[in-house]
Parts: sequence; C-alpha cells; structure tokens
Amino acid sequence: MKVTVVGAGAVGATCADNIARKELCNELVLLDIKEGVAEGKAQDMMQTATLLGFDTKIIGSTNDYAKTAGSDVVVVTSGLPRKPGMTREELIGVNAGIVKTVCENILKYSPNAIFIIISNPMDTMAYLALKSTGLPKHRIIGMGGALDSSRFKYQLSQHLGCSPSDLNAIVVGGHGDTTMIPLISKATWNSVPVTRYLSAEQQEKIVKDTMVGGATLTALIGTSAWYAPGAAGAALVESILRDEKKLFTCCVALDGEYGLNDICLGVPVVIGKNGWEKIIDIELNEQEKAAFAKSADAVRNMNNVLSTL
Ligand code: LAC
Repeated sequence: MKVTVVGAGAVGATCADNIARKELCNELVLLDIKEGVAEGKAQDMMQTATLLGFDTKIIGSTNDYAKTAGSDVVVVTSGLPRKPGMTREELIGVNAGIVKTVCENILKYSPNAIFIIISNPMDTMAYLALKSTGLPKHRIIGMGGALDSSRFKYQLSQHLGCSPSDLNAIVVGGHGDTTMIPLISKATWNSVPVTRYLSAEQQEKIVKDTMVGGATLTALIGTSAWYAPGAAGAALVESILRDEKKLFTCCVALDGEYGLNDICLGVPVVIGKNGWEKIIDIELNEQEKAAFAKSADAVRNMNNVLSTL
C-alpha cells in the first residue's frame, strides 16, 4: 500500500507521522512545494523508525509528483493555514488554486487514488476536488466532521469527567465556526444520553466551544492546530486501507440524501476500501434540520465563490 500526503506543514507532517507509526502502508510520500522541507521532515521521521519500531518507508519530495505514482490514498493538506482572527472561509482565494493543481497533478500518477481533503475551507475544497477531477463521488472525502466530532467528545468529557472513548457523539454540517452542528441530543455516554447529566447551560457551552474549537486553538497557538487534524486524517486513511468500515462524519457529495443535491457536506458515512461507502441517515429533530439547512446554504454560498475566482 502507498499513501501520499501533500503539504509538509504541521498538519501534513503530523498526519504522515501518525500513518508511519501505525504502519498503515509500506510506502509513504510527503510532498511539498517548499524546497527541501518534505525531504527534511521525511528524513527526521525516518530517524524515529528504530526508536518507535516501524518499517514504513517515508520519502520526501519537493513538488516531484512522479514520486507519488501509484498511491492508493492521497491526503491533501496544502494551502495556507488560518491566522488568529481569520475564518476558514477567508482562505478560499489562495487555497482553491492550490487544491485544484494538487489534485490534477496527483491524478496524472495515481489515477485510482482515494482523496482525503483537509485544506480549508474544507467543504468547498472537497466540492472543488469533486468537480475539478470528475472522480466518482466515493473517492472524495472531506475530513472536517471526523475532527469536529473528536473535539466534541473532548468537550463533553471535560464536563462529564469521563473518558472521551466512552462517548458516542458526532458533529454534522459544515466545517466552519458557524456551520457545524454538534448533535448533543443524540450524544451518549456508553448508551446513556449525555443530556441526562448536563444542565442546559452546560450543553450550550459544550456546543459553542466545539464550534469554535479550531478558532480557540488558532488564537492560543498563533496558527491552525495540527495534532487532532493530522490524527483525524490518519484515522480515515486507516479505515480505508484496513477496510475497517468505521463510521465517521465526513464531508461527502450528497445526491438527494438529507434532502440536498450538488453539495459536499458533513454526514455520517462508512469508510472502507472503496472510500466512503455508505451514507447513514440519522433522524434530525426540527431544530437540527433547520441548522442543517442553514449550514448547507452557507456552504453553497461559499461554493458559488469558486466560479468568481
Ligand atoms: C482546524 C482546521 C484544520 O479545525 O480546519 O483545526
């Protein structure tokens, strides 16, 4: 198995590091446009192999897509990250051109690859990847919901004083500060509804803190976060390469599901060897349905910006 991670910044390098540590593939290519950065980080990671005990071969490449040939999965992290005070949406102008070029270059050498899109604004970048490559929809997966759901479980665990792994909780909708929808009404602590243990104020705070989870970290760190985004990307790679059929919320093309068409948006999907294999229909209450429709409108408006670039 072969994986390429495009973009050797903090998110891409962390994603690659997680993939290598778990030996998800035998060959891993890290590619970046900045001279020497991918080669340097690949070598640094390879020098952890004997310490951490993995055999994945990591190859760095400065923009030489020939090295990525025959990749089964490609993770696209390239583009500018957020600076404090910026929304993900403000990155569209620069990142759209980058993501389009990256996808085209990858396909020249890996026509069968499954794409995981992390670059922001993620929902629109997944839509752009789908439209510009013309690939079957099951091969384009936007990572956002996988990350946001993990952040949601973290916030819940802090209030419940429990292990995040005992929680079942998902975030649907867009991957934006105002477009994501943490489904607290459906969240359970080992099958017990979490709402039973949380006051209305606590629930409101958990939902709000989840929605601005990325912005909070950007303000603290000075740039976009990378540990959880990188781990979320690697978890999707794992579910594909090991055909785990795990259920993640991912941004995928909707064809009538959830009453929407011609949009990529976060919904629960089964991830396996064919990419996203099935959309799971969860019953939303009236408030959640309204929030989902509003989220779709906002993402659609952002998608419309693509034609003006
Ligand atoms: C975040 C970026 C990766 O939410 O979108 O941290």
